Amino acid sequence: MQPVYAPFPQGRFRRTRKSAALRELTQENRLSTADLIWPIFLRDGSGEAEPIKSMPGVARLTLDLAVKAAVEAHALGIPVICLFPYTDPILKTEDCREAWNPQNLTNRAIRAIKAAVPEIAVMTDVALDPYNALGHDGLVRDGIILNDESVEALVKMALVQADAGADILGPSDMMDGRIGAIRVALERAGHKDVAILSYAAKYASAFYGPFRDAVGASGALKGDKKTYQMNPANSDEALRLVARDLAEGADMVMVKPGMPYLDICRRVKDAFGAPTFAYQVSGEYAMIKGAALQGWIDGEKAMLESLLAFKRAGCDGILTYFAPDAARILQGQ
Ligand code: PBG
Repeated sequence: MQPVYAPFPQGRFRRTRKSAALRELTQENRLSTADLIWPIFLRDGSGEAEPIKSMPGVARLTLDLAVKAAVEAHALGIPVICLFPYTDPILKTEDCREAWNPQNLTNRAIRAIKAAVPEIAVMTDVALDPYNALGHDGLVRDGIILNDESVEALVKMALVQADAGADILGPSDMMDGRIGAIRVALERAGHKDVAILSYAAKYASAFYGPFRDAVGASGALKGDKKTYQMNPANSDEALRLVARDLAEGADMVMVKPGMPYLDICRRVKDAFGAPTFAYQVSGEYAMIKGAALQGWIDGEKAMLESLLAFKRAGCDGILTYFAPDAARILQGQ
């Protein structure tokens, strides 16, 4: 696009910024509650919300409270809730078998939420880390993260989530070939309408720290995830990964983390035009919330500005722990 504008004084950009009315009229992007996906953390038990220290305002919820959260989300106009389990350490093993237990915490939560609020879409996480005694997203042998064996495990995990009623599966593991394998297995099992939102461009990031506390993976994890998550220095590789995942049957794609990777969001949207999401991850939430609690920034304004930035970068929606707070403001509640 070739910008055309009259030279000063015929041209004055401040005319369209003069009043709220003019600013509203010429606003290019808008955030709505329909853009939000709310990630919540689950734990066993009942009637308890256990605060997560590194994520002020976020708690691990027992099933009954998770159902309440889903009811609240629906009332606020949030279309999707995304589940992450805190797994009891005694259920974590090196073969990760709890991941495909039809009665595990996530699968029980999917059923309970879909029974209480069928209108809300439930998204899951497909990765082995919450169930892995070694903290990795894949199976580990002799210190190596196994690709093909992990994909087989992820397929089993995805199928029980679909059986439980999940609407959207979110493979976040970064193993090669998992989207195709999951898609084929879903078709064979008759789950033709289960969507896949692929964590296609997921970087090996320091911004996941608080999340690993939340799901109890920090203690277990040895080393890093650099052999499967992306190098933060790379951009073209993100496009190749998104192309690959779309070709294998992903319906939607994600860039993660969010704010430090807005350039990737824009490139992905421009290149493919597919439904594109960003994950404003735990560390991004913690930075904004932490600074706000110190009184160093205006938390509400910083939150809304950060979410609008994703829309400007071409995202169709955002996974964010701010979802209910943002929705309340957007709905004027
Ligand atoms: C792991 C997973 C991670 C997140 C979502 N799924 C962490 C990781 O890759 O170590 C991070 C989300 C966040 O930081 O908010 N499968």
